[in-house]
Amino acid sequence: MAVKPNMSSFLFIELVMITIITTINISFCSGSCINSERQALLRFKQDLNDSFNMLETWTGDGDCCAWAGVVCNNSTGHVLQLQLGSNSFSGKINPSLIDLKHLIHLDLSFNNFEGVQIPGFIGSMENLRYLSLSSAGFVGMIPHQLGNLSNLEYLDIQTYYPTLYVENLNWISGLSQLNHLDLSGINLNKSYDWLLKINSLPFLEVLQLPRCQLQHFPHIPFANFSSLTTFDLSYNDFENSSIPNWLPTLTRLEYLSLHSNNLQGSIPSSLGNLISMQTLDLSGNMLEGSIPKSFERLCNLTSFTMSDGNFNLNISEVLDVFSKCVSAKLESLDLTYGNFSGHLTDQLGLFKNLETLTLGSNSIIGHLPSSLGELSSLITLDLSDNKLSGNIPSSLGELLSLRRLVLSNNNLNGPIPSSLGKLSALESLYLDYNKLNGTLSQVHFANLTRLTFFIASGNSLALKASSHWVPPFQLITLYLGSCHVGPQFPSWLRSQKSLSDLDISSAQISDVIPDWFWKSISQFTQLNLSNNQIRGEIPNLTGTREIVTLDLSSNNLSGSLPPMSIDVNSLDLSSNVLSGSISSFLCDGMNKSRTTEILNLKNNLLSGELPDCWMNWRNLAVMNFEDNEFTGRLPTSMGNLGVLQALILRKNSFSGVIPYESFKNCSNLEAIDAAENNFDGNVPRWIGERFPSMKILNFRSNKLHGRLPMELCRLSSLQILNLAYNNLSGNIPSCISNFSAMVTVNHSLDTDIAYLATAVDYYLDALLLRGGTEYEYETTLNLVRAIDLSKNNFSGEIPRELTSLVELRWLNLSHNSLSGRIPMNIGAMKEMESIDFSSNQLSGEIPPSISSLTFLSYLNLADNNLTGRIPTGGTQIQGFNASYFMGNDLCGSPLPDCIVTVETPEHENVGGKDGNYEQEVDWFYVSMALGFVVGFFGLIGPLLMNRRWMYMYSGFLDRLWDKIYFAARRRW
Ligand SMILES: *[C@@H]1O[C@H](CO)[C@@H](O)[C@H](O)[C@H]1NC(C)=O
Ligand SMILES: *[C@@H]1O[C@H](CO)[C@@H](O)[C@H](O)[C@H]1NC(C)=O
Ligand SMILES: *[C@@H]1O[C@H](CO)[C@@H](O)[C@H](O)[C@H]1NC(C)=O
Repeated sequence: MAVKPNMSSFLFIELVMITIITTINISFCSGSCINSERQALLRFKQDLNDSFNMLETWTGDGDCCAWAGVVCNNSTGHVLQLQLGSNSFSGKINPSLIDLKHLIHLDLSFNNFEGVQIPGFIGSMENLRYLSLSSAGFVGMIPHQLGNLSNLEYLDIQTYYPTLYVENLNWISGLSQLNHLDLSGINLNKSYDWLLKINSLPFLEVLQLPRCQLQHFPHIPFANFSSLTTFDLSYNDFENSSIPNWLPTLTRLEYLSLHSNNLQGSIPSSLGNLISMQTLDLSGNMLEGSIPKSFERLCNLTSFTMSDGNFNLNISEVLDVFSKCVSAKLESLDLTYGNFSGHLTDQLGLFKNLETLTLGSNSIIGHLPSSLGELSSLITLDLSDNKLSGNIPSSLGELLSLRRLVLSNNNLNGPIPSSLGKLSALESLYLDYNKLNGTLSQVHFANLTRLTFFIASGNSLALKASSHWVPPFQLITLYLGSCHVGPQFPSWLRSQKSLSDLDISSAQISDVIPDWFWKSISQFTQLNLSNNQIRGEIPNLTGTREIVTLDLSSNNLSGSLPPMSIDVNSLDLSSNVLSGSISSFLCDGMNKSRTTEILNLKNNLLSGELPDCWMNWRNLAVMNFEDNEFTGRLPTSMGNLGVLQALILRKNSFSGVIPYESFKNCSNLEAIDAAENNFDGNVPRWIGERFPSMKILNFRSNKLHGRLPMELCRLSSLQILNLAYNNLSGNIPSCISNFSAMVTVNHSLDTDIAYLATAVDYYLDALLLRGGTEYEYETTLNLVRAIDLSKNNFSGEIPRELTSLVELRWLNLSHNSLSGRIPMNIGAMKEMESIDFSSNQLSGEIPPSISSLTFLSYLNLADNNLTGRIPTGGTQIQGFNASYFMGNDLCGSPLPDCIVTVETPEHENVGGKDGNYEQEVDWFYVSMALGFVVGFFGLIGPLLMNRRWMYMYSGFLDRLWDKIYFAARRRW
């Protein structure tokens, strides 16, 4: 291409000439490079480790003023500046620098002087006006000698890592000329009087003290450092402090950040005096109360952040304050998580310059005003997690600068306006969990060429695209869960070469997965196609790479499980019609270690024995084989699963004894659910010793026999023990009181679990709200404690020690041969909600203390030899079903009154009917499902649920469990 000699090329030539002349000029000055200073520089270089050869020019007796990073005085030749930032230097700082007597500017920032202390001799370089040691890797105490730099105007020692500290800040008073002070990240914790020292710097304009571990505001009569324009105090940890009263006297402040400081109390009205303020960040504190009316004077404000507080304000109060003078100037308004309520009104249209408007996670109600469409500078609009309703106004299509639109978790309804298809700058569109309906078509995406995140799950939207549609965008994330995407598998996905996170679950797809999709499967890190009617077989997936989660559950996938060399962290193929053996799936590629942590094959038709191929599945934490047709003994190699936490084998036909070898190294197991199988033999002694973390042990409905070993009592973490429907015999061991998790409940939560609890909580909440049920919660999930030994042949007395399990909530000992009395002290088990002792040979009177069990809502004592009066008072035992007391010699409400003590034969007959016992099985099943969750995750936290609610939602609990373990993925 020929370049025309136009005006700009002349300019270019001119520039070159100037550069040449300047260069000549500098080399002319080179004569005046001072020899002693050259020597000093060379010595300085010697001690440096200059791995990128940045100081190549620093050689011999050349002109040191021409060396890289060296600036000299034109006339005297003295070195004035060393600009040596960002050079990856390491090594030592040679004291020869002191010989640069005229140095006024020293910049060593962004190097790697790792482990080296800041040399004290820098304090002798008394002409320094500028000193930057920012992010240079220095460690240790900051030398007080720096306080000798009485001419210093600029000091920057910021550090990212907390490697630098001060004993005190006394030295800083010596820097009386200081204008810019950056101590970001330096531990000032020991400097109790930091503020008094800072207060002696009258010329200070910039003060950076974020992350300094400050905890107190020492008292100062007034702020002397009143020239301050920029003040960053974020990420400190002030205890029990409010916004200090001297702050509003810094009237020149233009930038103030108090972000993340635990500050309490209200916002002082005097902050409104800071009329030069441009950026004000009060977020991340525990502030409350109103927004001072005086803030209407902040006419220069461009950015205001008041998120994370408890303001309990109407959003319009904030907008009112700012609509007075600053509305047209404000560029950023962030009120996320501030407990704001009220409506958004057309007043918003005044804020013409807004680029960022984030009002998420509040309680804002009402419609989206169409004036939002007038905020033509908007780049980010986040109104998620509020209670907004009504339609999405089509005026939003005017926001042509918009890159991020987040309306998730509201009650917005109606169709998505097609005008959104004009948002050609849009990159992220989050509309999930609203009540949007109608059809999304190609028009909605017409100009969305930059769209990369499209999240619309949890609505009733339909997506109709022709099979030839080639979208204008390349998505990375697409969530259309519960939108109507089917019945065909969306062929336009084929064009999405960057798509890595796809959720088209519950999307009414009734199709086979096309070959091209299986071939692209390794582009995904998360793939959720669950809850559709997807048919066909899973092809051989050998040769593909790792993906993180693959969820194909609840479809109609058939055929056998193919070999999958693909490494999936969480694989869910549950609730399909997969059949045949899992041998090739488990055993092919045996030499390769698998990354899989969660394997869910529940509810298929898989059969045969488990192959002995578990040695390469060492990362498995959760294995769910429930409800298949597996047979045979547990293989030995399962004993290698050292991180296994939950093993669910329920509803199969596994048989044989519980083999020691298969659990040899599974010492992290927290839950074994082997109910409804054919295991026989004894409850092995080693179970009590192998599993210090065991929370749930469920062998209900097997063929176990013999006595319970005493060693079982060593399961001190046990929360749920279910051995019902076996042939166990002998006494119930009195050491049962050693189940200490049933004696005390640990309410403390570590952060991971707390996180999980939130995830689960959220999900439950959502379900409850959407289901429209009004049941109150009352029981926390981590409090589930249950023992079921019913339908065995236990004999002897109910051990009195049982009553020390004061956190136990459910106890079922029915249908055994227990004799003797009900422990007198049963009233001590204060949390008890359900007791079933029916069909034993218990005798004596019902202990009166039973009526003090306030939470008891089920009590079945039918078919024993109990005598006397049914206790009254306290709990409304009289309200319980009379049949639960029949088959005894009892009297009094709910049975007929005691005056007539004649036994009628009907009593026994009625009490003996099986119908009475069927209902009570449910609670355990449900608590099992719940408890399972507990068992798996430990203390799940404030997951509140009502017992009755649990009866009703047992089906849901399965889904909950599925959901939780996906949430758990993030924990691991
Ligand atoms: C040195 O010369 C340069 C270019 O000629 C000029 O920009 C600069 O101001 C001079 N510096 C001093 C300290 O005289
Ligand atoms: C898409 O954008 C182009 C240019 O950016 C514009 O000419 C066209 O009208 C837009 N189409 C729609 C449907 O907004
Ligand atoms: C969308 O929902 C509204 C009620 O919120 C209903 O009146 C309307 O018919 C629905 N539209 C479609 C297309 O389903």
